[in-house]
Amino acid sequence: MKVFVYVGMSADLVHPGHLNIIRKASELGEVTVGLLTDQAIASYKRLPFMDYEQRKTVIGSIKGVAQVVPQETLDYGPNLRRYRPRYVVHGDDWREGVQKKVRQEVIDTLQEWGGELVEVPYTQGISSTKLNQALKEIGTTPDIRRNKLRRLMDVKPLVRLMEVHSGLTGLIVENVSLRTERGREEFDGMWASSLTESTAQGKPDIEAVDVTSRVNFLNTILEVTTKPIVYDADTGGIPEHFQSTVRTLERLGVSAAIIEDKTGLKKNSLFGTDVCQTQDGIESFCRKIHAGKTAQITDEFMIIARIESLILGKGLKDALERAAAYIEAGADGIMIHSKSKDPKEVFEFCREYRKMPKTVPLVVVPTTYSQVTEEELIENGVNVVIYANHLIRAAYPAMMDTAKCILANHRALEAEDRIMPIKEILELIPGGK
Ligand code: SPV
Ligand code: MG
Repeated sequence: MKVFVYVGMSADLVHPGHLNIIRKASELGEVTVGLLTDQAIASYKRLPFMDYEQRKTVIGSIKGVAQVVPQETLDYGPNLRRYRPRYVVHGDDWREGVQKKVRQEVIDTLQEWGGELVEVPYTQGISSTKLNQALKEIGTTPDIRRNKLRRLMDVKPLVRLMEVHSGLTGLIVENVSLRTERGREEFDGMWASSLTESTAQGKPDIEAVDVTSRVNFLNTILEVTTKPIVYDADTGGIPEHFQSTVRTLERLGVSAAIIEDKTGLKKNSLFGTDVCQTQDGIESFCRKIHAGKTAQITDEFMIIARIESLILGKGLKDALERAAAYIEAGADGIMIHSKSKDPKEVFEFCREYRKMPKTVPLVVVPTTYSQVTEEELIENGVNVVIYANHLIRAAYPAMMDTAKCILANHRALEAEDRIMPIKEILELIPGGK
């Protein structure tokens, strides 16, 4: 009689360790690979480089694999109960870390019909983390990077973006990660903020840093990162200029541009009604969205319409009316901005927005209502969160502190314990030696 053997895997960067597991499994019986879906993988670590179908093609061609079935969750339970395998085979590296609990559940579930977990010793000398790093060093292509934002939106309950304003901040957003009991937390992509980029150049956030210079800056980020980029296009300028910006961004591999429904001299939204800011008319802004959409060449590039009604005291009704019109004009996403000290008005918008017949992904920027948690945003149906200015706000006080410390002491010694050692800064960017 056929012995049913189940092997759960992501199989993104297939290496000899995977082949070893499949070989051992095929010695026990007929192997079914439960291939984790993109969503299942993204629930506890980064999005796989290859999508499900690509990974399925690779793993399905490997000797000893009889069939490949989707495993929709990190939890093996549903698939195990469905297929009731005699054996589950896995590397022994899941005894610790995020998968420890999953492992115990596999053992408990298998007991229901007398199945068995067989663990294969981890293949030494091969590390997915190192392969991952090597792939990042090779870089990416504009097409792959551009598509990544939509892929992320498809599989993650909330896409998390962080602002960048230099190559160094690009590297931070690309590489920083944290291991928690929920898995590996990291930023999914970058926000090319007009505020932080202007500030880093010592300029006000009034579109004085022109598009050519903004695009040149993007190259700095593109060179050292692989994650998707959302570009803050301010008002987008006149429609014809916006069309040219869209083409440029697409060519570079940027995933989306956000344009705000303001006109005339743009001021930063967080000034609210303290300064003179004019909201664009609905029709006129719809024309700009439409112009952008007709200019783009790829299917994946997104134009996200940013609604300033709450910022300018125009109220919820106006915001909702605009959302419906902008979606009708072709917007691929809606950003609802607010400078309120709590998330109440944004959540009111979310509730009403979800009742609309046609919706697109929703983006928020919780700068003034930073107490809101990502879990609350998910509950309210938000799809993308942007931390729009936090790295520059962290850096500036630290730099001021050190500058003042040197002035106060007429030397740098006292500043040493608040700054990083020179050896570390020399080694921060590889390839300098
Ligand atoms: C930016 O980061 O430049 C933004 C968000 O547009 S805000 O500063 O809140 O307007
Ligand atoms: Mg901006």
